[in-house]
Amino acid sequence: MRAIRFHGSGGSESLFCEEAPIPKPRDGQVLIQVHAAAVTPTEFAWYPTFHTPEGNARPFPIILGHEFSGVVAAIGDSNRDVRVGDSVYGLNDWFMDGAQAEYCLTAAASVAPKPATVDHTLASAVPISALTAWQALVDRAQLSEGQRILIHGGAGGVGSVAVQLARHKKAHVIATASAANLDFMTGLGADEVIDYRTTHFETVVRDVDVVLDTVGGETRDRSWGVLRKGGQLITIAADAEGVNQQRVRDAFFIVEPKREQLIEIGRLIDSGVIHPIVGAVFSMDEVRRSYAEKPRRGKNVLRISEGNRHGH
Ligand SMILES: NC(=O)c1ccc[n+]([C@@H]2O[C@H](COP(=O)([O-])OP(=O)(O)OC[C@H]3O[C@@H](n4cnc5c(N)ncnc54)[C@H](OP(=O)(O)O)[C@@H]3O)[C@@H](O)[C@H]2O)c1
Repeated sequence: MRAIRFHGSGGSESLFCEEAPIPKPRDGQVLIQVHAAAVTPTEFAWYPTFHTPEGNARPFPIILGHEFSGVVAAIGDSNRDVRVGDSVYGLNDWFMDGAQAEYCLTAAASVAPKPATVDHTLASAVPISALTAWQALVDRAQLSEGQRILIHGGAGGVGSVAVQLARHKKAHVIATASAANLDFMTGLGADEVIDYRTTHFETVVRDVDVVLDTVGGETRDRSWGVLRKGGQLITIAADAEGVNQQRVRDAFFIVEPKREQLIEIGRLIDSGVIHPIVGAVFSMDEVRRSYAEKPRRGKNVLRISEGNRHGH
């Protein structure tokens, strides 16, 4: 198969489009013929990119890009949930080879039917952002009607889903974004939008029930003061892992693949509640550009197979 492989040092300059063996599914796994896979540039700095789960150095080359949309090509054992030929979207284990290849392996429990109303390109950019937003707002915050939430980085991959999901939960949504994205935020359902480059959010926001921080650093540190008493801060920015404060560690989590949540998210997409957003779409040969060119909104996507062009 054709695969984008990372040869282990630096960043996107170490990505090569080359031939690689098609992996074979074991029990509990499925083989996906990938039609599109999203680009997550921060993977070059992640622990699982360079380590095994046991903490040893990971052998290179490896395949990045863990979220995808495609078709089930083979299954490792009889599985009630997935059949060969199903169109699915999902993500796979951070420690395994990813999906920037014509085929990838994943756990059957990590995929769900692709939302029918979007093509593979749009669907491939959904799993990480939408599962993260879901696990923050639904699992952790249990956001409910009338609550006030501040979402930092509302125009980003996670933020844009979080704004739509919070709106769906009938919360009062305050989002931070740069000037070019203010109307975009309102269009997604934000009640208030703050240009973080011109306004210190803590001068205009207070007593929120929940802060979702997708930015980290001083944005996170300045956010504690805008919570109401007993309010909750949730952060997903990886720099929280290096902070010694217990409250920061408690506020941080890492997204997990969950089939049931992908099914719910797919329903919200098909019913028009959540609109997936992608930046630019690139071919496999353009992979280095797909990492270098920061999208204005959403995530960049690699188109992997011909089937994607027809949205099958
Ligand atoms: N822990 C987890 O499980 C998990 C899961 C997913 C992502 N993440 C991490 O979460 C972060 C966000 O991911 P993403 O995919 O949403 O990123 P993204 O698509 O690159 O979006 C980042 C957004 O942050 C905004 N931004 C930058 N500086 C800001 C500031 N000071 N205040 C407010 N907004 C600011 C930018 O807005 P403008 O364009 O408007 O300037 C941009 O839209 C990344 O670090 C990613 O690695 C973690």
